[in-house]
Amino acid sequence: MRRIFVIAISLFVSISSVSAYSTPDKLIPEPVEFSTGEGVYTLKPDGSDVKVYMNAAAFAAKVEALPEFAKQEAYELVIGKKGVKIYALTEEGAFRGRQTLEMLRLLDPAATVQHCTIFDYPRFQHRGIMLDESRSFKGKEFVKKQIDALALLKMNVMHLHLTDAAGWRLQIDAYPNLTDHVAWRVGETYHEWEGLGYPFTNAQDPKAYGGFYTKDDIREIVAYAAERYIDIIPEIEMPGHSMEVNRAYPEIACVGEDGKPRPFSWDLCVGNEGTFKFLETVLEEVIELFPYKYIHIGGDEAVKKDWEVCVNCQKRMKEEGMIHKNELQGYMVRRIEAFLRERGKTVIGWDEIVETGLPAQAVVMSWRGTPGGIKASAEGHDVIMSPNSYVYLDYYQDLIRKEPKAVGHMQSLRHVYKYDPLEGIAPEFHHHILGLQGNLWCELIPYAAHAEYMLYPRAFAIAEIGWTPQEKREFFHFRERCLTLITIFRAMGYNTFDLFNESLRAQTGRLRFDDPTFKLL
Ligand code: ACM
Ligand code: ZN
Repeated sequence: MRRIFVIAISLFVSISSVSAYSTPDKLIPEPVEFSTGEGVYTLKPDGSDVKVYMNAAAFAAKVEALPEFAKQEAYELVIGKKGVKIYALTEEGAFRGRQTLEMLRLLDPAATVQHCTIFDYPRFQHRGIMLDESRSFKGKEFVKKQIDALALLKMNVMHLHLTDAAGWRLQIDAYPNLTDHVAWRVGETYHEWEGLGYPFTNAQDPKAYGGFYTKDDIREIVAYAAERYIDIIPEIEMPGHSMEVNRAYPEIACVGEDGKPRPFSWDLCVGNEGTFKFLETVLEEVIELFPYKYIHIGGDEAVKKDWEVCVNCQKRMKEEGMIHKNELQGYMVRRIEAFLRERGKTVIGWDEIVETGLPAQAVVMSWRGTPGGIKASAEGHDVIMSPNSYVYLDYYQDLIRKEPKAVGHMQSLRHVYKYDPLEGIAPEFHHHILGLQGNLWCELIPYAAHAEYMLYPRAFAIAEIGWTPQEKREFFHFRERCLTLITIFRAMGYNTFDLFNESLRAQTGRLRFDDPTFKLL
């Protein structure tokens, strides 16, 4: 009896001590390949035990057949009794390896890691999150904190929605009204502002809510992101979601039947040459700040109502031989695309832009489910998938009655994780799918802590979808790893969703009568 007791105790000790080490099977995203050894190694806090080998012949041979983007980010991480070795072709690859090492370090309070070899590279080249800074301005410290999280998850894109009716969020020297006036609204929340009739004010008003990024703020964010191999995609919306521009500069707004400008118009006026002068000047300043390939020009949900009566829009239609008002949107997109292409930039737009004649170089961001991306890729466009049917992070993540007010139906962690960006895409067009992105619209998310609650852990799922081979992904194993990483994120000060108390329905997708959160309505 005593002997059995001793065996039982030693079994318990060995099991609990094994599970305390950090091991590669706890990583998010799950690596492409790994193997483990017998021993363990405790990482030095100062990193002096990490050696990086660039361009080693054996590693170069191993990644030879990978697509170019995957080669750039590929790494091998070897942890053994003498320390840590990282192999990569580029600094970016070495950085991804360091982030894996960082997550292994965080997974055990003593920083003790099982001996292992990890060979790893991403499935897709675009793995992003969009933050809506117009509807609720969260500022540079928040953005930098989320950049840290994205880096740890080996994501590489942050898209900032900087302009919309609810506030313009970027300093533009040529157009000071954008930040002196329409960056400040009365109404702390989007819906309060809407209920008050969309009032703007100025920064000195004690009732002012809002703010904007100065050019120095953007330089700081860009430099911070660059150190973490994350690109920032700035979005300047056109022609819809642009009421704030008309309010700041009514002289370029559409003209009504009474001959007067309409500052409350939702859309930019496509007939007024002043609109193009405005957009081109703004974009010149944007180009100076954001040293990347892509600029996002919006393009979603134009209402087009005022275009029907505006003399300038009607004149443009006649001159250009247009039959339908929708062609005005195509005219604007093509003109701005050409302007940006001449300056070495590639345009991204929401999927509406495929409807009105789009130059082949333009990239489409599919948001109205997946059909826009399926169509655009078949027509030869590169595509970023961000379907609202899977990866919209302003949607509920658990039972509606448990959660703060959100949008639409439940998109639980399980639902998000189910998504495969190649779903519905014919194999001959797979190469057009650059990757995926989760979008956090903020009409219902006025505060930073709430934004983090909606982001994590669903951003973990987006990171893994974007990185890990599809055939390796399995939800329940992923969910277990999320529970561990959530604890780490909370300790680092992120206000995550409480995955530990997620309803069974959200976990399984099925309604269960034994679910303690279930009640007949
Ligand atoms: C969008 O969600 N309107 C792009
Ligand atoms: Zn007009």
